Amino acid sequence: MSDKVIIFDTTLRDGEQSPGASMTKDEKVRIARQLERLRVDVIEAGFAASSEGDFQAISAVAAAVKDSIVCSLARANDKDITRAADALKAANAKRIHAFLATSPLHMAVKLRMSPEEVLEQAKRSIRFARNLADDVEFSAEDGYRSEMDFLCRVVEGVINEGATTINIPDTVGYATPELYGEFIKTLRTRVPNSDKAVWSVHCHNDLGMAVANSLAGVKIGGARQIECTINGLGERAGNTALEEIVMALRTRKDYFDMVCGIDAIQIVPASKLVSQITGFVVQPNKAVVGANAFAHTSGIHQDGILKNRDTYEIMRAEDVGWATNKIVLGKLSGRNAFKQRLQELGIAIEAEADLNEAFVRFKALADQKSEIFDEDIIAIMSDSAAAEEGEFYKFISLSQHSETGERPKSKVTFRVGDKEASSEAEGNGPVDASLNAIEEIVKSGAEQLLYSVNAITSGTQSQGEVTVRLAKGGRIVNGVGTDPDIIAASAKAYLSALNKLHDPSQAKLNAQMTP
Ligand code: KIV
Ligand code: ZN
Repeated sequence: MSDKVIIFDTTLRDGEQSPGASMTKDEKVRIARQLERLRVDVIEAGFAASSEGDFQAISAVAAAVKDSIVCSLARANDKDITRAADALKAANAKRIHAFLATSPLHMAVKLRMSPEEVLEQAKRSIRFARNLADDVEFSAEDGYRSEMDFLCRVVEGVINEGATTINIPDTVGYATPELYGEFIKTLRTRVPNSDKAVWSVHCHNDLGMAVANSLAGVKIGGARQIECTINGLGERAGNTALEEIVMALRTRKDYFDMVCGIDAIQIVPASKLVSQITGFVVQPNKAVVGANAFAHTSGIHQDGILKNRDTYEIMRAEDVGWATNKIVLGKLSGRNAFKQRLQELGIAIEAEADLNEAFVRFKALADQKSEIFDEDIIAIMSDSAAAEEGEFYKFISLSQHSETGERPKSKVTFRVGDKEASSEAEGNGPVDASLNAIEEIVKSGAEQLLYSVNAITSGTQSQGEVTVRLAKGGRIVNGVGTDPDIIAASAKAYLSALNKLHDPSQAKLNAQMTP
């Protein structure tokens, strides 16, 4: 049996199903490119039949990605499967992922189908999918709460029809590690043709056991594919976290004795990108990618670390891509130093014009802030990438007045297409006043779902990173802005969200609207 675990990333599909984590087409492409740098084996880019926008996003990811397999989810019917295959046309390597619920509850209440009907539909759908792709995955939705005898029949049937991967999701996060591992093992033992497919695990984190359950599915059950997301993003309490799986397999190789092809140094950049695009902040004590995951504050620990890092560290921060947090560049740094630092950070710049544009942003920041850290450079590059996605509204300047006991006032100047516009407004606070000033002109009427501020580095000299989430007409978009002045960062974030609402090519219904 192979000792390779296939890493199937579903940040762009199951991750996007987190309320508010909706991504535009260009954002999906940016994340997919980072997933490719991370060397995930399979990228599930979305659910093609869920909306025209998601279809376009999957097509764009399929065209952009060269090394990973690109996958689309589909319900187990001809229409969805055809849509998935069409969206994946440009992919170098494609996978169709069909799912159908097999638990008594889901079949009776949700599908209103008998077990025999479910069995027939599952087989028919895989037969149909195999005409359109060689690589076809079948997921038995709510598989862990299904009856073993019935599930064995379904799995045997779909493998006979040509399914190449069999996924047994714990859709509602009900499993416990040993029981889930044994469940997979029993299935693999009882299904006569089980050796003809790769077995996969897909766990939700409702009881906080998704990572443990997935690892048990591999260790006890013999699964060789893990479905996971960056930062554990996903429905309700989320999915299995990719970074934890990868580092558990690597750090405890002595126990698992298995490998995966992930380039771990790309983990933190991937985590930051997903967090920034979705507006889902990573908790500080989150394993591997939380800000405190490698921090040692107690005196005894610091003393131990200074004597020998192994006293309190089982992994190295730099191995998963944490920047060194030292001052790297300043006002006098030139274009070559900037370019070299980008290379050291693993940030690829394809066109000279993009480098020039990023360097201009760097210089502007260095005028405001004397010490530029790696985190600042990553934020600059993220801003540049977002700007490439089109800026109908573009921040120019802001002036603002606050005094205790008075309502704050703000004046914001920004570009609207090729014209300059300026407006003043009051608000409950300086941020509110600034966003009201923008609304005076744009009149979007969008509902604000989220406003959050984060310091990019430590201390008050840090840049503020603001996320604004807006909803309008069934769409949800996230805008991000960075600036040493958090009022300006807020205005930039608001304009960035408005740009996404304005751009029809990015129109995509929120993933929650999937029929
Ligand atoms: O959780 C689940 O059951 C799923 C399937 C559609 C694979 O996400
Ligand atoms: Zn799921």
